[in-house]
Amino acid sequence: MHIPSRLQGFLRMVPAWLVIAGLAGGIAQASAATPAERYTQFCAMCHLPGVHGAPKVGRHDDWLLRLKPGLNMVYRNAVEGMPNTAMLARGGTDLSEAEVRAVVDYMLAATALPVSVLRDAARYDRFGLSDRDFIRRDTSRDGYLSRSEVSADALLLKNFARFDSNRDGRLGEAEYRNAETALERERIAATVDDATLIAAVKQALAAVKGIDFEYVKFEVSNGVLVIKGIVGHADVAVRARDVVKRIAGLKSINNLLVSGDQISWD
Ligand code: HEC
Repeated sequence: MHIPSRLQGFLRMVPAWLVIAGLAGGIAQASAATPAERYTQFCAMCHLPGVHGAPKVGRHDDWLLRLKPGLNMVYRNAVEGMPNTAMLARGGTDLSEAEVRAVVDYMLAATALPVSVLRDAARYDRFGLSDRDFIRRDTSRDGYLSRSEVSADALLLKNFARFDSNRDGRLGEAEYRNAETALERERIAATVDDATLIAAVKQALAAVKGIDFEYVKFEVSNGVLVIKGIVGHADVAVRARDVVKRIAGLKSINNLLVSGDQISWD
């Protein structure tokens, strides 16, 4: 088993530490801010009730899938923020990166996840991957993309062999990055008029489950696509980007969709 030593120490510390925090009660000074206090002050308003789709501290199911891409990704999402969601960089605070990571450690420890989950997350970290899309698509968590893992992406699938430089039947992260760079370059190089692009974007977005054109609008001008509106879950915004980024002729894509699962649709 391998759990980062910093987290291990933290896991051991927490119970005593929560008691001390409880005893200290109202006398805690802002200058003596602990990760728990920072959590309460800056993060709990979303993460305690679970608003805007924020994973609740203490609820295993909210965290299990999030840990599959590794612990590093969870820290990174907290520090860099998560595109198209209410999770801003550093939770919208001016905490340092180390402070944010310590708060995340607190949140994970307080959630008391099974050790196997943390161990699997740490194992995935050892692949040393960094491309968010690659990691998201690696559903088998083996550090490579197979044809079946990219089967929803017709253009990439068609070009699979072309980018599988070492001919091992799978794409490593570097091969995948090359593929994305090349496919994007080719997409931009294609000349397609706006009317045709609008029809293509409409068709592509209509196929994404969770896109409702009553709440999602887009425009294309000189090949530049802007998508705006609200979707029920951040995954929908990611899938929207997945499909439009393959449309030949789009010069750039500005995906301003916001996930708003807290919004009542009535
Ligand atoms: C305005 C609400 C809000 C605040 C404040 C907020 N978060 Fe979040 N956070 C979210 C939402 C929403 C998500 C889930 C986004 C998604 O996946 O759709 C999230 C996700 C996360 C995740 C999971 C990352 C992953 O890999 O899935 C972590 C860790 C996290 N927040 C840490 C923090 C910390 C630490 C703070 C305080 C410093 C904080 N958040 C403050 C809304 C918030």
